[in-house]
Amino acid sequence: MMVKLTPPMGWNSWNTFGGQINDKLICEMADVMVQTGLLRKGYEYLVVDDCWSLKERDGDGRLTPDPEKFPRGMKAVADYVHSKGLKFGMYSCAGNLTCAGYPGSFEHEFIDAETFAGWGVDFLKYDYCYHSPIIHGKYLYSRMGLALANCGRDILFSACSWGADETQEWIKGTGASMWRSTGDIFDTWDSIKNLAKQQERFHPYNGLGCFNDMDMLVVGMYGKGNVGLKGCTDVQYRTHFSLWAFLGSPLMIGCDIRSMSQATLEILTNEEMIRINQDPACRQPVKLTGIWTGDDILIYAKFLADGDLAIGLFNLREEKAGASVNLDEVGLPFSTGKTLELSNVWTGEKSRVKNSTIRVELEPCDCAVYRAKVVDIR
Ligand code: GLA
Repeated sequence: MMVKLTPPMGWNSWNTFGGQINDKLICEMADVMVQTGLLRKGYEYLVVDDCWSLKERDGDGRLTPDPEKFPRGMKAVADYVHSKGLKFGMYSCAGNLTCAGYPGSFEHEFIDAETFAGWGVDFLKYDYCYHSPIIHGKYLYSRMGLALANCGRDILFSACSWGADETQEWIKGTGASMWRSTGDIFDTWDSIKNLAKQQERFHPYNGLGCFNDMDMLVVGMYGKGNVGLKGCTDVQYRTHFSLWAFLGSPLMIGCDIRSMSQATLEILTNEEMIRINQDPACRQPVKLTGIWTGDDILIYAKFLADGDLAIGLFNLREEKAGASVNLDEVGLPFSTGKTLELSNVWTGEKSRVKNSTIRVELEPCDCAVYRAKVVDIR
C-alpha cells in the first residue's frame, strides 16, 4: 500500500479546465511544472480529473480513454509525465457514474485498478457521485483501497466523498492517503472562507499518512475557468494558500500555470509556507481563542517537528481587524521565562514577542503567519 508521509502536492485539471482536457494540454502542463520550478518546490503530481474517458466501457469491461481527447491513450501521457520527473494522477468514482456522467468504478474496482496500474498511474482521485444508496461508503472505498493496494503499483488513493456519511470516522480504514473534508471550492472569497470554517471540526482527524483535503487551490484563477466565478485578489489568494498550507491540506494547484502571474507563482512557491505544510510531524493545527477575538478572525498554532511553533492569524473579514493572542495559549506563560522569536513567513521580518502577547493589525482578508522559536526572555 502506498504510504505518503506529508500532504501531497501537485496540479489538477478540474478547477480551470473541467471537461476541456486533452493529451496536448496535459503534456504542456508537465513542461510548465518543470520550467516554472513548481516541481522543484514539491508539486509532483499532475492529475487528470473527470471527463477523460468514453461514456461506455469496452468489450472487456475496461475503461477507455476518449480517442478525441487522448488519441495516444493514457500510457503515452503517463510516460511523458514521468519523463519530466513528475507523477501521474487520474480520476474515477465509487458510483456507477462519475460526477460528470462518465462510467464509474462501482463493481469494476479490481479491473480498473489493474488498468490504471498498467498505464503507469501513481495517484487516483476517487469521487462519490451516483453511489449505491444501500452500500455504505466505507465498503465502497475499502474495495478500491484494496484493489489499489494489490494492483502491483504504488498508487496514492485520494478519496473524494466531501466529508459525507461522516467520512472522517472510517476513511483511514480504507487505505486512503487523503480525503476531501469539504464540499467543492469555487473561485470566490466566500467559498474560501466557508471551506476554512467548515473545516474546523475536522482538524483532530488530520495527521501523518492521511490528510484532510480542503480541495484544490483557486490561487491565480482570477475568475477564469471552470470554477472561476467572481475571482479573488492576490491578498485573498495569499490568505487562502496560507490557510490550506497551515491547516495541513494537500496543495493541488488549480489555475492555468501556463499563464500565471508573478504574484501567483510567488504565493504558490513560498518556501517557509510550504515547509510548515510539509513539516514531518504533520501535527493537527490547534485553534487558539485569542483576546477579544470576534467572528471570522481565526488564530491557529501548530507544533512543528523541530520544537518550533507555527502561528497563524487570519482575518476572514472584508474590513481591517486587530488580532491578539496570549502565549499562555501555546504553553509559554510568563513564568516559564521564555518567549517567542517570530519570523514572518511572507515578509521575512523578525520580531520578538513582548509581554507574552502577539498583537497584529490585519488588512481586509489578510493574514500574518509566523514560524516561532522558543527563546529566553531578555
Ligand atoms: C466532484 C468533485 C470535484 C470534481 C468533480 C468532477 O464535484 O468534488 O472535485 O472532481 O466532481 O466532476
